[in-house]
Amino acid sequence: MLCLGIETSCDETGLALVRDGRLLGQVLRTQEELHAVFGGVVPEIASREHYRCLAPLLDRLLAQTGACVSDIDVVAVARGPGLLGSLLTGMAFAKGLALGAGAKLIGVNHLQAHLLAAGLEQELQFPALGVLVSGGHTNLYLMHSAARMERLGRTLDDAAGEAFDKVAKMLNFPYPGGRHIDRLAQLAEPDVELFPRPYLDNQNLDFSFSGLKTAVAVHLDAHPELRLPMMGEPGAGALDATPENSPLAVVCASLNFAIADTLRVKAQRALSRLPQVRALILAGGVAANTMIRESMAKVAREARTKERNGLAFITPSPGLCTDNGAMIAFAGELLAREGYAHGLDVDGIPRGRAVPLDYAEMPG
Ligand code: KG4
Ligand code: ZN
Repeated sequence: MLCLGIETSCDETGLALVRDGRLLGQVLRTQEELHAVFGGVVPEIASREHYRCLAPLLDRLLAQTGACVSDIDVVAVARGPGLLGSLLTGMAFAKGLALGAGAKLIGVNHLQAHLLAAGLEQELQFPALGVLVSGGHTNLYLMHSAARMERLGRTLDDAAGEAFDKVAKMLNFPYPGGRHIDRLAQLAEPDVELFPRPYLDNQNLDFSFSGLKTAVAVHLDAHPELRLPMMGEPGAGALDATPENSPLAVVCASLNFAIADTLRVKAQRALSRLPQVRALILAGGVAANTMIRESMAKVAREARTKERNGLAFITPSPGLCTDNGAMIAFAGELLAREGYAHGLDVDGIPRGRAVPLDYAEMPG
């Protein structure tokens, strides 16, 4: 089965071809530089850029893989949650292509695709605890299978990625700042008392990261010298010159620790309630973070008790963690194999709304 995946839910235009669970090729156009001047994604610019890039990217993917449009059996497209205009751009393109190629169409839940992405590189195991950390979401799932996932916890306000990006913005780092904080965090030991690990004083599996952002803002107000010069000011772009153990590196390490350790506590709590799970799956853009990967790998190792009979730690390689077309193609193929499909009336789902399980019977 040859499945084309299309990802346009935010500011990456990603297309990929997967055949029988194997990635044949992928193309990715990031819009980061377009949005950087605004310090965040501008939805109207994002949709227009997806529209401009989709067809040339498809041409490039076909040339790269030697495939033809008529070879495609399934067109899988991210249908949400995401920016509605961006989603609709990708979905209109996918619908036209599916109709023209006589292929099946499937609208893929973007979050589900993140959680399944590691399956391109290693075998997935179910049931699993899914830890999804991205720019828009911080969710825990009990993953029964590739198609069936039960949400156990969510963020009540900001997502972990938002906390990284908003603090990075306060420090005048380039957008999106998560990966820069990751890099600087490796230059110092965290001060574990500097920032609170938010929303742990309860028994639930939800998160809240907005207070952490405020704690960093208060610290920066007291220490304005920590902020890098703004774009255009002398000394701007000095991020790469940050020395080891500098106060700025300590702030980055301490913020990273507060986020990583909060995720650790809730993941351990979830595992203690789920003796049946066989794997811990870490996914989403923030899963590329060095400290979080190390901390979650340790959680999985420590949960490998005799009673549990092993617990695999599964996470995509860092390049597959952030938005891409490969994860949509892979998830789409898995779902298509289970007999799921959509009609041309499948809808885009904006952020904040649940993605419905409204699959049609797979014809034929
Ligand atoms: O999954 P993703 O590509 O897009 C959404 O679906 O939201 O996640 C993007 C988020 C951004 O907040 C970005 O700063 C964060 O992932 N991110 C990281 C790292 N790489 C990407 N955060 C921390 N450390 C990283 N290495
Ligand atoms: Zn994403």
